[in-house]
Amino acid sequence: MLHTNLNVNEQGHLTFAGIDTTVLAKEYKTPLYVIDEDCVRRKCRAYIGAMQKFFGKDSSALFASKALSFKEIYRVVKEEGMSVDVVSGGEIYTAKEAGFPMERVYFHGNNKTDDEIAFAMDCNVGFFMADCIEELDSINTLAGKRNITQKIILRLTPGIDTHTYEAVRTGQVDSKFGTAIETGQAMEIVKYALTLPNISLEGFHCHVGSQVFDGQTFCDSADIMIDFIVAVKEKLGYEARILNLGGGFGVRYVEEDPHLDIEKTIEEISIHVKEKCQAVNIDVPKILMEPGRSIVADAGITLYSVGSVKTITGYKSYVAIDGGMTDNPRYALYKSQYSALIANKANEKADFCATIAGKCCESGDLIAEDMMLQKCQKGDILAVLTTGAYNYSMSSNYNRIPRPPIVMIKDGKSRIAVKRETYEHVAKNDL
Ligand code: LLP
Repeated sequence: MLHTNLNVNEQGHLTFAGIDTTVLAKEYKTPLYVIDEDCVRRKCRAYIGAMQKFFGKDSSALFASKALSFKEIYRVVKEEGMSVDVVSGGEIYTAKEAGFPMERVYFHGNNKTDDEIAFAMDCNVGFFMADCIEELDSINTLAGKRNITQKIILRLTPGIDTHTYEAVRTGQVDSKFGTAIETGQAMEIVKYALTLPNISLEGFHCHVGSQVFDGQTFCDSADIMIDFIVAVKEKLGYEARILNLGGGFGVRYVEEDPHLDIEKTIEEISIHVKEKCQAVNIDVPKILMEPGRSIVADAGITLYSVGSVKTITGYKSYVAIDGGMTDNPRYALYKSQYSALIANKANEKADFCATIAGKCCESGDLIAEDMMLQKCQKGDILAVLTTGAYNYSMSSNYNRIPRPPIVMIKDGKSRIAVKRETYEHVAKNDL
C-alpha cells in the first residue's frame, strides 16, 4: 500500500488508521474527509525531533497551516510542540479560537491588509514574515500606535528553480512573494527595515516551492541565504539571528513518487548549513522550517459514494462520485495525480480503466483520468488517498455544494472534528 496507515481487512475492505473505511462511510455518510491524527502527530515528532537533534534545541518546525486549517488541527500540533505558519486573518482567528499560543504564530502572505495586520497585532501574533516595503510601513505604523516593537522576518527570494510545477514554485526571482536577492533589492529592504523604530528585524526567510524530494535544493537555497547574511553583516553591520528555510518536502501521491526520509533529509541539510556557516565564519543562526503538505497529506483520505458508471461505447468510462472539485480542486487546477480504489472491493483486481468525475456542472470537474480501478457500480465506496493537504483547505461551495465533514481517527477511534455543512450554512450570509 502507498502509506503505512492503509491496509485491507479479511472482508477485503480498505482500512485506514486501523478502521474499516466502509464502516466510516456508513456511519458518517459521504463525501467524507478522514484524518489520521496519530499520523499527523508522528510527522510533527519527526520534524521537531530531527530539527532539535541536528540544529539544536533552539530550532523549530512550523506547521504551514494553509495545508489544513481547522481548530482541532491547531490543538494537535500545539500539543506536539510545533509553531504555525498562518497566511490570513481567518487562519489567525482559527488558531486563536483553538487556544494556540500566539507567540508561536508566524504570519505570512504577500499582501496582508492593514486590517489583518492590526488584527494579528491585537492577537499578539509572534512574528510577521514581512513581504514588501508597503507592508513594513504598515507594520511600523500600526506597531507604533500600539506602543509595541513587532518582531519580523523578511521574506526573500533566493532565485532557486525547484523543477516543480509552475503554480507551486515560489522561490524564483520573478515570484510575487518576497524580495529578490539577485537584483540587490533585498539589501535595500533590509537597510530600510533597520531604520524603522517599531520593528525588530529577527532574520530572513525563503521558500523554494512544493513537492521537493531532494535535500540538495534546500542546501542550495541555504547557501544563497547564508551568503546574503554575510553580505548584510559586512555592509550594514546587522547579523540575522533566524534563518527560515521554508517548507516543501514532497509526499507520495502515486507509487512512482519517491519516498523522502524527513530525518535523513534534515540531517543532510544541517551538515551542509553548519559547514557553510563555518566556511564564511558566522554562527549558525536559529534554523526554522515550515512544512505543510508532508505533515498532513498522507494522514488524509476522502471517501465518496459512486453514483453512476457511464461507459461511452468506444471512448471511455466515467465513474461519478458525490463530491469532486469542490472538496478536491487539485486535479482541476494542477492535474495533480492521485491514487484511488474501491474501498469495499480493495482485494479485487484493478482492471477497469476509469475517469473519476465529480458532480459539478463543469467538464473539468475530475479527480483522475484513465485510472485503473476495481470494477464498480452505484453504491460502492471510492477512496481517494493522500488528500490530507490542500483539499479541505482549498474546498469551495461552487454550485452551492456543502463541504464534507472531517472525521479524525486516534487510537482506533473516530470522532467528528468539523461538522458537515448544511444548505443553511451555504446560504447563511444571503439577505
Ligand atoms: N512556507 C511557505 C512560505 C509556503 O508558501 C508554503 C506553501 C509552505 C511553507 C508549505 O509548503 P509545503 O510543505 O506544503 O509544500 N495549493 C498547492 C500548494 C501551494 C503551496 C503554497 N505554499 C497544492 O495544492 O499543491
